[in-house]
Amino acid sequence: MSENNELNIQWYPGHMTKTRRKMEDDLKLVDAVCEILDARIPIASRNPDIDAICGKKPRMIILNRIDMADPAMVKRWAEYFKAKGWAVIQTDCKSRKGINTFVPAIRSLLSEKLARYAEKGQAGRPLKAMVVGIPNVGKSTFINQISGRKGAKAENRPGVTRGVQWVSAGEGLLLLDTPGILWPKFDDPQVGMRLAYTGAVKDDVIDTETLACSLMQMLAEQYPQAVTERYKIDVPDQPDGWELLQAAGRKRGFLISGGEVNTERMAKVLLEEYRSCKLGRFTLETPEMMEEA
Ligand code: G4P
Repeated sequence: MSENNELNIQWYPGHMTKTRRKMEDDLKLVDAVCEILDARIPIASRNPDIDAICGKKPRMIILNRIDMADPAMVKRWAEYFKAKGWAVIQTDCKSRKGINTFVPAIRSLLSEKLARYAEKGQAGRPLKAMVVGIPNVGKSTFINQISGRKGAKAENRPGVTRGVQWVSAGEGLLLLDTPGILWPKFDDPQVGMRLAYTGAVKDDVIDTETLACSLMQMLAEQYPQAVTERYKIDVPDQPDGWELLQAAGRKRGFLISGGEVNTERMAKVLLEEYRSCKLGRFTLETPEMMEEA
């Protein structure tokens, strides 16, 4: 989905129940579930109910947007999910990096099933998988890259019934052509903020200055050197997002009458520079935070 307001889909209880039922039906058709996460925010970009929805189905985590995330943290997150017995791949769907690791990783995840097929003389029987994830995480781009499909993605249009459609992912693997769109844990304000930092939810959901202050605070705590280098400001041991935003605005010369800093302008600049990775490649969540959640 190319518009960044897709997360504002109204996920009301009835809609969630319907989506969940549809996914449970689709799950019966596949051998594995491939959940795409944004590698910058692997917690906030997860669906809170995914483990319950998937049950014992073999799982793969696709850490996507690795071009925008902290490489050391991508590695840590990959290890964290692998330790759960899930397959993990790391992708940048824009440049196709990691795309070729998908088929081997699925075959390895489902090696027992492949062995059973071979025993039964069904060596050519294809494996089947589905892709799921919250809006805007890269599901369509991923399916298009895997299948070589170009142009518009398959949509579930209301009133149009059609059979299940598959796209070939090559080497005896079929993907359900429509991804499962799931809701994020939007009742957690911290999750909402992190989704907003990355642009997954529209800016107007949260006040820009409030958002930028808390992003500045987070970056100053986790990546102080990057803040110092980019904005030429000192970051104290106990940083204050608002003060740093003001200091950065002053350095940039964003002043309004009376010499006050135009913090709104600086807030917009910070968000834009963070989203376009001008400050660097950051991951805002750690596996330890997952254990605390
Ligand atoms: P969805 O189906 O899950 O809703 O997401 P979709 O594939 O539409 O991807 C949302 C946006 O994220 C697209 O950008 C897409 O290009 C971008 N994207 C997907 N994977 C990656 C990745 O690994 N790295 C980076 N940097 N971007 C990624 P867009 O600006 O909305 O569209 P476009 O102009 O890029 O096509």
